[in-house]
Formats: sequence, C-alpha cells, structure tokens
Amino acid sequence: MRLDRFLCTVGLGSRSDVKKLIQKSRITADGVVCKDPSFKIDENRTAVMFDGKPVIYKKNVYFMLNKPKGIISASRADLRNPDERCVVDLISEEKHRSLFPVGRLDRDTEGLLLITDDGVLAHSLLSPSKHVNKTYLVGLRRELSPEDITKLEAGVDIGDDTPTRPASVSEINKTSVYITIHEGRFHQVKRMFEAVGNEVLTLKRISMGSLTLDPDLKPGEYRELTEDELTGLKSGSAG
Ligand code: URA
Repeated sequence: MRLDRFLCTVGLGSRSDVKKLIQKSRITADGVVCKDPSFKIDENRTAVMFDGKPVIYKKNVYFMLNKPKGIISASRADLRNPDERCVVDLISEEKHRSLFPVGRLDRDTEGLLLITDDGVLAHSLLSPSKHVNKTYLVGLRRELSPEDITKLEAGVDIGDDTPTRPASVSEINKTSVYITIHEGRFHQVKRMFEAVGNEVLTLKRISMGSLTLDPDLKPGEYRELTEDELTGLKSGSAG
C-alpha cells in the first residue's frame, strides 16, 4: 500500500494533510525518514512511526454498541435528513471510516448492535442462509400462556409468505421472556408476539451469533470487540 494511503486509512488526515506530514519528515518507515508519499509499505510488517510513535494499522474496526432507545439504526449515508442523529454518531472515534450498523433495530429497541466498516463480515452475518441466532429480552403487555410459547416456538403466521422458523422462548416470568430467532424479518419479534395476541412493550437485543452484549455497557456506550469476540463472530459466520 502507498504510504500516503496508509496514513489516511489510519486516520491521520486527508491525502493533502498526510502529504504535508511526509514532507515535514515526521514519518518514518522501518526507522528511516520517508519523504515519498508513493513509497510502498507492507501495512502488516513495515514499522511506520509518526513523530516517533508507532502507527497501528487496522484494516477494519468493530464496535459493540448498547443502542439506546430513540435513535435510528442507520449509517450517515442512509440518512434522508442529515440533521437526524443515527447510531453511528454515537461512536466518537474512527470518524474517517464509513461505519455502519450490522442489521437494524427499531428506534424503540435497545441493546446489542455491531458497528463496523467490514462489509464482508456484515454480509455474512446478515445472510439469510447463515441463520445467525439473535436473542432478545422481551417485556410483554399480557401474560404469555404455555400454548403461546408452543406456537411461537413452532413458528407463527406473521403475514409473510411463510411462517416464522422455529424459535426458542425461555420465560423469566409471565410477562418477560427471552426469545431466540434465526431470521431477521422486519419487526419480527413484535409481529410474532402480535400473532399470539400479545404486545411487545420493551425489546432489547442481548446476543447475535456468538456475540453477547457486555453488561457493563450502559445504553449509548460502546467498546471495541476483543480479539476473541471477533474470531468467534468470523468463524460462526464463515462458510
Ligand atoms: N424485532 C423487532 O420487532 N424489532 C427489532 O428491533 C428487532 C427485532
């Protein structure tokens, strides 16, 4: 990769900003001052320094966000109204990257949302053929009967061409349950409970594939995924 492109990718500035840094001898590659913006480096091997400090290369970034209620799951590019705030605006780092949420939660849903710039991983996590599990904590208006649970688990008619695929429901009490689904249809969880005559009052996503919401994250907070979390997600969605 060209040195100037590398420096842009890591967020040191625009092409012209990083060219100035290079011209001012503030960049070294493997210990040697490099004054050629087109100099080719190996982003995984060459030791690049800016003012003597290592510049760490990340091809992509991955954040676990606890989405708060009241904000839409969109990237800035998706917004019709540029004044509207979206989940990506909650990430205060990596502003130079085109971050987007992997999948969507409704405006009034909270919980786990992966924010990244890795289109390949996002595509594979969202692919209908992969059936990545998603678990939600659901608060209900009415008590759920054992028959309702049987129906939800077998699959219900939510007005689409086909019923929902089998799901699993685990009761916390009569009006709050965990449900795990393997699809991602529009408003799916709300429509499933509607199909058994109930109503979702609160909805929070707890997990997606191998990734579980960090209980230390308050709504609106985020952190980078750990190496283990990323490896788990990538291996669970591969193939
Ligand atoms: N199902 C819903 O109904 N809403 C969400 O936000 C996610 C799943």
